[in-house]
Amino acid sequence: MKTEKTLSILKPDATRRNITGKINAKIEAAGLRIIAQKRLHLSLAQAQAFYAIHAERAFFGELCQFMISGPVVVQVLQGEDAVAKYRDIMGATNPANAKEGTIRQEFAESIEANSVHGSDSAENAANEIAYFFSDLEIVG
Ligand code: RTP
Ligand code: MG
Repeated sequence: MKTEKTLSILKPDATRRNITGKINAKIEAAGLRIIAQKRLHLSLAQAQAFYAIHAERAFFGELCQFMISGPVVVQVLQGEDAVAKYRDIMGATNPANAKEGTIRQEFAESIEANSVHGSDSAENAANEIAYFFSDLEIVG
């Protein structure tokens, strides 16, 4: 077991429905600590740069439009095996396939408006955290 950090985003469907606190409660109940957090309204260029890894996917344009459709909350989570643990409690991308008790099973509206993002590897986590936060803003 190792203490690590991961990047989380509470997506526009979550801010729109005012359920960011409910999601944070599930994050904390899982033993993850929110060590940085801010609310942003991404520009199209920022969303495209963040999701550049998906630039060739058919849903890229729609995904970027969705991510700028309202405010998001970006967070750094810290804990034991934080990358895998957060992916676990997020649940599957498509809420129809998400396990009972996961964030997406409980809150997601659709495969796109699925309430949360979580980094999928330690390497991507480091890059994604650096994209949104300076070291001064991360208080572990
Ligand atoms: P995320 O990156 O947001 O944590 O989600 P993920 O790893 O579970 O899913 P990924 O394959 O990385 O897709 C990124 C986000 O794109 C939207 N999506 N739309 N319309 C579609 O078929 C589709 N598929 C994915 C979702 O918002 C997904 O979380
Ligand atoms: Mg992903």
